[in-house]
Amino acid sequence: MTASGTSGFGAEYARIVDLAKLGAMVTKTVTPRPRRGNLTPRTVETPSGMLNSIGLPNPGIEGLLAREGRAWESLGMPVIVSIAGGSASEFRDLAAALEGYRGVSAIEANFSCPNVEDGMEFATDPELLALATGAILEVSSLPLIVKLSPNVTDIRPLAVAAQQAGAHALTIMNTILGMKIDVHNRRPFIGATFAGLSGPAVRPVGVRLVYQAWPEVDIPIIGAGGIACADDALEYILAGASAVQVGTASFVRPTAALEVVEGIEDYLRNSEVGSIDRLVGLAHPEPA
Ligand code: FUM
Repeated sequence: MTASGTSGFGAEYARIVDLAKLGAMVTKTVTPRPRRGNLTPRTVETPSGMLNSIGLPNPGIEGLLAREGRAWESLGMPVIVSIAGGSASEFRDLAAALEGYRGVSAIEANFSCPNVEDGMEFATDPELLALATGAILEVSSLPLIVKLSPNVTDIRPLAVAAQQAGAHALTIMNTILGMKIDVHNRRPFIGATFAGLSGPAVRPVGVRLVYQAWPEVDIPIIGAGGIACADDALEYILAGASAVQVGTASFVRPTAALEVVEGIEDYLRNSEVGSIDRLVGLAHPEPA
């Protein structure tokens, strides 16, 4: 899959990549009302990664559905719409608005955006997470993927809370909160001060979180964070991910997600494993 925020709302990416070869695309997060996003600068490169504080600019759910809602049907791949609200009821309303759109295959609830006020509130408190997950499921008939945050001491209670509230899958992880200071003007570099770190530098953290969450839940985990090639994706799969998302790497090579698919196919052809399902969680010790 493409990771949210790295391939627009679908049509933009379809001009570059044969979407039919990917498992799914996850849209940029949509909110109840249009947002302009954060002050610039919004991005900066870091060693082996980048910081972003984009601030969820988007046309709002009505604007998005008017613009793209029907086009998703003809994209030729499953479209997963990423949503973010400021309260459980806003999450519910967003999910309700997506009902009946045949081009939408699933919802990814972005409970973990580090770049908007209270954006991580839901992914850092198991009770709030369960409340908002339940609110979406009250009105939605679509599969619900809950996107968790790495900015917690222990991801396991959050993963369990999402599953108990009825989530169908988890995405682990969103970006890690960081900052850069401009040493010349001695001020924070990013307009919004703090920003989310992504790219290869964060992959060991994401792999660790998937490895920790996997024994605690029965629902599938989608691994995300610093995946740039097939071996990176395979690390996540061996840790317990059933699928992966490619994000920041697409800014360097827009075809990175396709290369990951092809690399995994090569790996399977050259090994005795047969099916990728047999690799999921294989890095864990055998039960005694
Ligand atoms: O700032 C942004 O638009 C990114 C959001 C996120 O990481 O969820």
